[in-house]
Amino acid sequence: MNIKVASEPIKDFKSQALVLTVFEEEKDSIDKYTTLDENLSKKLNRLIESKEVSGKYKEFTILHTSDELLVDRVIIMGVGKRKDFTLDKLRAVVSIASRNARRMNLHSMVIPVGFQGITIDAEQCSTAIVEGVMLGLYRFQKHKSKKAEDFMVIKDLTILLKDDTYREKFEGGIKKGIALSNSTNFTRDVVNEPANFMTPEMFASEAEKVAKENGLIIKVLNKDEIEKENMHAFLAVNKGSINPPRLVVLEYNGGEPTDKVLGLVGKGVTFDAGGLSLKPSDAMFRMHCDMAGAGAVLGAMEAIAKQKLKVNVVGVMPLTENLVDATSYKVGDVIGSREGKTIEVLNTDAEGRLILADALSYIRSYKKIDYLIDIATLTGAIVIALGHFCSGMMGTDETLINTIKEAADVSGERVWQLPLFEEYKSQIKSDIADLENVGGRPAGSITAGMFLKEFVGDVPWVHLDIAATAIMDESIMAYAKDPFLPKEGATGVGTRLLYYVAELLAKKY
Ligand code: BES
Ligand code: ZN
Ligand code: ZN
Repeated sequence: MNIKVASEPIKDFKSQALVLTVFEEEKDSIDKYTTLDENLSKKLNRLIESKEVSGKYKEFTILHTSDELLVDRVIIMGVGKRKDFTLDKLRAVVSIASRNARRMNLHSMVIPVGFQGITIDAEQCSTAIVEGVMLGLYRFQKHKSKKAEDFMVIKDLTILLKDDTYREKFEGGIKKGIALSNSTNFTRDVVNEPANFMTPEMFASEAEKVAKENGLIIKVLNKDEIEKENMHAFLAVNKGSINPPRLVVLEYNGGEPTDKVLGLVGKGVTFDAGGLSLKPSDAMFRMHCDMAGAGAVLGAMEAIAKQKLKVNVVGVMPLTENLVDATSYKVGDVIGSREGKTIEVLNTDAEGRLILADALSYIRSYKKIDYLIDIATLTGAIVIALGHFCSGMMGTDETLINTIKEAADVSGERVWQLPLFEEYKSQIKSDIADLENVGGRPAGSITAGMFLKEFVGDVPWVHLDIAATAIMDESIMAYAKDPFLPKEGATGVGTRLLYYVAELLAKKY
């Protein structure tokens, strides 16, 4: 996809589709595109006056031109009320326009910005437009022998500016949008891969490719090395599998050696059958996506490196399956952990916290970590608590929590904080070991967080539960807020969020 900025009058611009955004209840909205052809403006105004175009958020209208413009058609996108305008809405309407462009097999699209009199950051604006197109057009087609179509159908995308005042900023935003979209779509590809195409070893080789292409330091621990690290909890989960585990460690040093270090840990269960606490078939569907946390860490580190952020980041991804076999770990087993704490396993399906416990312990001794974030498809309970339109967040450090909230405002990947009150700890106390791996039905996501907290020492830490946001199906999409999400499968959630956390930390320190 060739993406550029231009600043010539709209009427001199040749393209298959011109995408105009209009606000709700604003008659003169169209007049703001001052360089639009007179005749066309009249037509558009008539559409608005007759209320055929209302400007309602996500409204889509198409208008064919004759000779008045060089563009073949105008796609009029409603963006809702001016006061409610967000980057998220811009991203969303651009993705609706792009998907319609694909339906009509159009290859070029031009989007004018800076005409509507809204103050939005130039860089963020162009990033959102690029994301709207590139994330909106994504499809997972790898395993179809006959590919339905070239899904990235738009070959030429132009952001048309009123003048050149902020041209560089817009260009920077395009570059960032391309990096973030490619990395998010890469995360989606990795997470969407069925479990027979994404074993721990295969994930590790994907990470090796990312490291090689972007100059990251990589270390991949095999089973022997994981044993030497005393990662008993991680190894217990792997016991029922023929495929051996891997621990991937990625390091990006874009900052000074004295700068603070951000540590990222992602859950990488390449298939979660539940172990002997076997999931019913319906619940097992899509459990090849149980490595979406690891996928987000990998994608974010790629984007961070591509954008050459001045920040130091370490990413750790524990990778294993959770299967059923005569060798599987059992309900009631007491297992050790790298941290030395003992764990009574009351449910083998609560495996994510076990592998994360050892990974959180490992990352702290690998390097001095100043801020630690883990991201995981950890609990079904988060669906019950928050539904599908935000990820759960809990942690020990207000600064880090606020940084993540700030990052979420930009990325549009919403987070909502849950408490970690000391009292919840009583739910994971065991009679025979230091901890139990489940805390009963009340506050299931929080007790999982309380469990992880036992393995982070004094490092400022936040846990993100993406079980409800990492995977989409059509029933959720029917009422979802983000049309740029795929209709089915992996969303790539976390990739852009973690990138923005790193960007904010790079600015702060
Ligand atoms: N991988 C699941 C969580 C999950 C559920 C992810 C739905 C995506 C969609 C996790 O390992 C799990 O099974 N958790 C259990 C914990 C319980 C046994 C305490 C759950 O949520 O049921
Ligand atoms: Zn599980
Ligand atoms: Zn799981």
